[in-house]
Amino acid sequence: MHQPSASSAPAIETMLAHRSIRRFKPDPIPDEDIRRAIEAGQMASTSSNVQAYSIIRITDPAIRSGIAELAGPQPKVVECGAFFVVCADVRRHMLLTRQSGEEYDAKLEAFLVAVIDASLFAQNACVAFESMGYGICYIGGLRNDLNRVDELLQLPRGVYPLYGLCVGIPGEDPMPRPRVDIDGVLFENGYPSDDEVMRHIGSYDEVYEQYMLERSGKQATWSAMMASKYTKASRVDVGPYYRAKGADVS
Ligand SMILES: Cc1cc2nc3c(=O)[nH]c(=O)nc-3n(C[C@H](O)[C@H](O)[C@H](O)COP(=O)(O)O)c2cc1C
Repeated sequence: MHQPSASSAPAIETMLAHRSIRRFKPDPIPDEDIRRAIEAGQMASTSSNVQAYSIIRITDPAIRSGIAELAGPQPKVVECGAFFVVCADVRRHMLLTRQSGEEYDAKLEAFLVAVIDASLFAQNACVAFESMGYGICYIGGLRNDLNRVDELLQLPRGVYPLYGLCVGIPGEDPMPRPRVDIDGVLFENGYPSDDEVMRHIGSYDEVYEQYMLERSGKQATWSAMMASKYTKASRVDVGPYYRAKGADVS
């Protein structure tokens, strides 16, 4: 065993270089690269080894354009080398409880575990793709119309589509998006005062405003963006859809 050392950790370089890619070259991704990244994703930690996720690769052009449309439209869904739908998946657990002659009985905790598991899996797979040189972009726009996604994919009960994932050879090279300063998210033994939280946000606003100006010529602070985003609930159909598919989120 080697002594732990940040200086010899290529995974960190990959993660620090991340930026979402929204323009892709049309080249397809070899199956072996996809399988390798997904296997790497599967080795993410999973609550009590429940492995409550699935990933659906979308190769049917009609389904891809259907999702591209409902997600925005977001043409990258069609243009990227490979497109996936990441699902929280308790279907296997439902089948197993049924087989054992019992009722599937799980509430918010099971749904939460599945969403956490699926996201750890997806992010590990993304880092694997990025470490091979591919670009990725998550597609939360999938949740604009989950009923339509369900129609397109014919999903059974217990399978909850969470977001899409574009993977492909980057057709652009955007600068990484700055994050809140590490001391604005890394705390010790408790949570800081509101004043301190707001101080970190103030510093971030300056950095972010500069980034936005350079990247898109737009004048925007992170504070203003968050304040406007969280004053009106979005995608209010999401809860009823997941409940209808078997999630007891009480
Ligand atoms: C769950 C999730 C859903 C997202 N949905 C979209 C999307 O629908 N379209 C898009 O262009 N970017 C989407 N993104 C990308 C975020 O906008 C991006 O990660 C964030 O702005 C930070 O920028 P960066 O990834 O370039 O560092 C999504 C990211 C996550 C994690």
